[in-house]
Amino acid sequence: MNVAEKLAGIFPAEDDIPAAHRIAPLDQRVWLIGGELRAWTGPVQEVLSPIHVLGPSGLHPRSIGRYPMLGAKESLEALDAAVRAWDQGRGPWPTMSVEERIRCLEDFTRRMKERRTDVVNLLMWEIGKSLADSEKEFDRTVDYVRDTVEALKELDHAGSRFTSALGIVGQIRRAPLGVVLCMGPFNYPLNETFTTLIPALAMGNPVIFKPPKVGVLLHQPLLEAFRAAFPPGVVNTVYGDGRTIITPLMESGKIDVLAFIGSSRVAASLKKLHPRPHRLRGILGLEAKNAAIVLADADLDLAVKECVLGSLSYNGQRCTAIKMIWAHRSLVDEFLRRFCDAVGALDAGAPWKPGVHLTPLAEPGKSQYFTEMLQECLKHGARVMNEGGGSVRESFFWPAVLYPVNERMRLWYEEQFGPMIPVAAFDDLDTPIRWVVDSNYGQQVALFGRDPEVLARLVDPLVNQVCRVNLNSQCQRGPDTFPFVGRKDSAEGTLSVSDALRCFSIRTLVAAKETPGNKELITRIVRERKSKFLSTDWLL
Ligand code: G3H
Repeated sequence: MNVAEKLAGIFPAEDDIPAAHRIAPLDQRVWLIGGELRAWTGPVQEVLSPIHVLGPSGLHPRSIGRYPMLGAKESLEALDAAVRAWDQGRGPWPTMSVEERIRCLEDFTRRMKERRTDVVNLLMWEIGKSLADSEKEFDRTVDYVRDTVEALKELDHAGSRFTSALGIVGQIRRAPLGVVLCMGPFNYPLNETFTTLIPALAMGNPVIFKPPKVGVLLHQPLLEAFRAAFPPGVVNTVYGDGRTIITPLMESGKIDVLAFIGSSRVAASLKKLHPRPHRLRGILGLEAKNAAIVLADADLDLAVKECVLGSLSYNGQRCTAIKMIWAHRSLVDEFLRRFCDAVGALDAGAPWKPGVHLTPLAEPGKSQYFTEMLQECLKHGARVMNEGGGSVRESFFWPAVLYPVNERMRLWYEEQFGPMIPVAAFDDLDTPIRWVVDSNYGQQVALFGRDPEVLARLVDPLVNQVCRVNLNSQCQRGPDTFPFVGRKDSAEGTLSVSDALRCFSIRTLVAAKETPGNKELITRIVRERKSKFLSTDWLL
């Protein structure tokens, strides 16, 4: 099938939608605050799916529901609920034993798993993610909660020991930081939100959670699980326009941690709103422009396979996606030929179509944005190398492979976050290295080659430019136990199952000179289990 034929069949007719993936519009009229699902009678936002459906009068984006558009007043009420739950660190949640907190997390996971089908269907309809990837996102998130619980037990075990140095004995543990504002991205609205929200909760912090602009409704099936599993005020949700509802939160000075996955521009403007920035911790996952560098001796089939996966999984809407390909001049033509063939063989359509790879783009206006970017590339000397590259049908944009790209094009330096694949040739390794050095971003790079000497010579300078060098493998975040981090404008703080627990806590200790009196005192507190902090108990 050629690209034009594939494009013609991208969107389903009403009858083509499998019964298992039909959803009724979800009219969300509640928000979670202070332990209650409070009714909302104010303005709402309609959600239009990126999936268009063919009806008698043509293609229409399917309306899949509505969500509340809260105002500043409601947002500040949610803040008050979280501040009360924190109670200067004296609330039931921050002072709860690790064992009890784990029980709440496990209760939440049980309830969450019951809503898998609803969440997966909403992921497909709301952000256009394929069924396989939506299921993966859900299951990976459940695994993340389970692994977080295990890491929390380990942390608790490590903190259950006393240490002694220079005549001082002490017990060092990690304690919560305060009210956390969690804001996730549209591309992993469930997983990336939960990779900050869950560790924040696990460490005893109350949370205010704002879903991304696109990817709101899929959280609705989990609201009751949050309400039932956690004490009042520990999880609160806000919905609406960021400027209206987030500005007052930040200006209040009562947000202790900003966990934000999105653009560096928004992150910087949010941080500036805080009146005491030294009190604000930032855990930020921001833009990236990861390069693949295909060396002269690369295994071309492998490089092509990994670069297709790296640049086009979920249509390239991943922060870890390969967003620039450098190929050695000696093989660039052959690389492009095989790469374009592989792109042409990808299947496209609705997210539930078996084997589908390319789906409609989640954010409104994206086809237009990429079309303009493509025109600019053509103007400055690049060509579209693949059949049908850049063809548009409503929210669907067929991937465009552009070659040769240069510094006059936005695609050279801007994070495209979608199916635009810039390719450039190099003769000398200094050229791609210089590009990485000059980039505003510093997340990952992927190297394709076989010569250990050449690869080693590249690894050493690149590990100081980015935070992960992938060998003959696409760039990616997982496994979630590995540190996920970036330099420059790409990140602040390190996330992984165990690093995240550290990010959302601070080390705090009880120490005493090792006098007989102090030893006796500490022994009595511990033996008689008078303190939750000064204790040698730990969980298996
Ligand atoms: O959008 C950024 C995600 O963290 C990427 O995760 O590499 O597992 O797709 P992934």
